[in-house]
Amino acid sequence: MITKHKHLLYNALFLIGCAALLLFLWYAPPETTSHLPHDQNHARFMTMKKKEAEKSCESCHAPGKEAPLPENHPPKYRCLFCHKQK
Ligand code: HEC
Ligand code: HEC
Repeated sequence: MITKHKHLLYNALFLIGCAALLLFLWYAPPETTSHLPHDQNHARFMTMKKKEAEKSCESCHAPGKEAPLPENHPPKYRCLFCHKQK
């Protein structure tokens, strides 16, 4: 008897878990991270392989360079996963 009830409980918890996950995905905010700008500075990166292009970003986007990242910038490993190329 007891084990039977436990099964019911776990099934219920599982369903609640699924519902929560669905709701979370449903309400997730739309993607807002800025894309790679379409300008002369960035044109050559649009068609490059991501890994290749990312080697160059910090020649401009680093402290003391022409366009340093904002202070509250998230962890910046792999620029182009967040800042899409198109
Ligand atoms: C030759 C210098 C240079 C290089 C190299 C460069 N950038 Fe930039 N980037 C700039 C400058 C200057 C700005 C600010 C003005 C602008 O929006 O173009 C900028 C702006 C940006 C922005 C902000 C766009 C916005 O909407 O405000 C993003 C994102 C960005 N760069 C990503 C990258 C990534 C990723 C790379 C590497 C693939 C890269 N940049 C390489 C000079 C550079
Ligand atoms: C984990 C995701 C992520 C990664 C990786 C990342 N960024 Fe960002 N970046 C963001 C977010 C979020 C912002 C906040 C403003 C926005 O929405 O663009 C931002 C802002 C910027 C800005 C300022 C643009 C603006 O709109 O004011 C630049 C420039 C930039 N990132 C360049 C880079 C470069 C260059 C790299 C790699 C060295 C990089 N980012 C890696 C998420 C990321």
